[in-house]
Amino acid sequence: MIPGGVAVLDFGSQYNQLIARRIREMGVYCELLPGNAPIERVLDLKPSALVLSGGPSSVYGEYAPHPDPEVLSMDLPILGICYGMQLLALHGDGTVEGGHEREYGPAKLFHDEGEELFASIGQGLQAWMSHGDRVVRVPDGFTAVARTDSLPIAAMADPRNRRYGVQFHPEVNHTEFGRVLLRNFVLGIAGARPEWNMETFEKMAVKKVRRELEDGGRVILGLSGGVDSSVVAALLHRAMPDRFVPIFVDNGLLRTGEREAVEETFRDHFGMPLRVIDGTGDFLGALKGVTDPEEKRKAIGRVFIELFERAASSIEGVTHLAQGTLYPDVIESISFRGPSATIKSHHNVGGLPERMHLKLLEPLRELFKDEVRELGIRLGLPPGMVRRHPFPGPGLAVRILGEVNPGNLDILRRVDRIYIDYLIENGLYDEIWQAFAVLLPVRTVGVMGDERTYDRVIALRAVTSTDGMTADWYRMDHHHLAMISSAIVNRVDGVSRVVYDVSTKPPGTIEWE
Ligand code: XMP
Repeated sequence: MIPGGVAVLDFGSQYNQLIARRIREMGVYCELLPGNAPIERVLDLKPSALVLSGGPSSVYGEYAPHPDPEVLSMDLPILGICYGMQLLALHGDGTVEGGHEREYGPAKLFHDEGEELFASIGQGLQAWMSHGDRVVRVPDGFTAVARTDSLPIAAMADPRNRRYGVQFHPEVNHTEFGRVLLRNFVLGIAGARPEWNMETFEKMAVKKVRRELEDGGRVILGLSGGVDSSVVAALLHRAMPDRFVPIFVDNGLLRTGEREAVEETFRDHFGMPLRVIDGTGDFLGALKGVTDPEEKRKAIGRVFIELFERAASSIEGVTHLAQGTLYPDVIESISFRGPSATIKSHHNVGGLPERMHLKLLEPLRELFKDEVRELGIRLGLPPGMVRRHPFPGPGLAVRILGEVNPGNLDILRRVDRIYIDYLIENGLYDEIWQAFAVLLPVRTVGVMGDERTYDRVIALRAVTSTDGMTADWYRMDHHHLAMISSAIVNRVDGVSRVVYDVSTKPPGTIEWE
C-alpha cells in the first residue's frame, strides 16, 4: 500500500471492487481489507481515509461482520456505504430498523445545501438503492442530510469528525453523481493526494523486486504470451535483466503465429534470455484419444509441469518463481471465503515452488487488469499484445470438441485467424471482452458448386464482460456476421457451416469445454 491511500473495509457487497476502481481512477491508491481486519492491519496501510463498504447482511444478523471497534475510533475520515452506514449508526448510538421490504433500484435524492459531501451535486438526481435495513435515528453528532421519497435518512453527516454515511451506492454507474460524491469525500474532505499512477507503481515495483532479489538469486517465469505474464516479464527485465529467465512452453495448442510473436518481442526486441520449450509432440501424444474436457485439462497440466520443471532445473541458481497474479484474484478470495482464509495461489505451477524451494514473486498483485495494460505500454510492450483477449492455458484443446489432432488444429487455426483479423480490421476487437471460434465434432450437409458436401461446423463466440465471472453475448451486427461466415466457409476446406453463440454466462460458460 502506498501511504495516504484509502482503505476499504470489505463487508461483502458485490460492488466492492468498483469502490476501489473509482478511487484509483482519481489517482488515489485504494485497497480492500476484510471488514473485521484488526486495527494493526489498517494502521499498516497508513491510510488517509476509510470506507466501510456495503454488504448483504443485516447488522443484527447472527453472523453479521463488524469492524474492530478501535478502527471506528481512529481519527480518520470515514464514509459508510449502505451496510457501512448502518454500522456507523449502530456503533454510535443511532437506531437501525430491520423488517422493511428490500428497496432495490433507482430513487431521486434530495440533499441539504452546503453539505461538502454533496458539493456540485444537483437535486433530484438518481441514486441506486439496494438495502433492507435502514437508519431511523442518526447517532450523536450526526444530522440527516439527504432523503428520498421513501427514505427520510438517505445520508447522514458529522462534518466535525469527518464521518459520513450514505444509504445508496455511489460506486455504481446508475448513481448519476456517484463519482462526484466519492471525489468530494476522498479528495475534498479527506484531502488525499492524487499520486497513484503507473509511473509511481513502476518505480515502487522495480525497487521491491530488486530488494527481494538482493541476495543474488535468479527468478523464472512461465511466459504464456498473455497480458499478465508478458507484463511481469517486462517488469522483471526492467528491474533485474541479468537475473531473469522467462520460460515459454509451446504446447502445440497455440494460435497461428503466437510462438513467433513471443520470440520476436521478448528475445529479439527486449533481448531476454528466453527459453523456448517445444512440447508439441509431448502434448499431442498425451491428448491422443482424449475427448473428455477435464481429462484434456489434466493431461495438459501434467505435461506442462513436467516440461516446465525440467527447464527450470536446468537453470543455475533459481530462487524465485514469478506469477502474474492480479488484484481481483486476491480480493476474490478475501470476500468469498472470509477474512481468515488464505489467499489462493493463482496459476500456481503445480506445487513447483515447494518442490524446488522457490519463493513466489507476484509483482502485479495490487493491480487491476486495465492498470496492468497501462503498465505494459509504459514498459514498452507492443499495444497488440497488451490489449489481447484472454486465452485459456489449455489453448485450442478446449475449443476443439472431441479429439485434438493436427488436422483439427489446422482447421481451427485457420478459422480463428480469419475471425480475429476481421474483428481487428473492423474496429470490433476492443469492444469485445473475448472472441474465439470453436470446432464442433459434428458434420452437416451442404452444397458447394454442384457437389454435395458433408463437412464440419464452426461456432463463433464473442462476449462482453468485466471479469469473466459473468458474461453477455456480444450483439454483433448481421453484416459483420455475414462477412465472417462467408470468409470462413470459402477459405477453409472442411467447414461448411458457421453458427453464432447467443448464450450468456450463467448459465453457459465462456468456453465450450
Ligand atoms: P469459462 O469458460 O469458465 O471461462 O466461463 C472464464 C475465463 O477463463 C478462461 N478459462 C481458462 N483459463 N485455464 C485457463 O487458464 C483454463 O482451463 C480455462 N478455462 C477457461 C476462459 O477463456 C475465460 O476467459
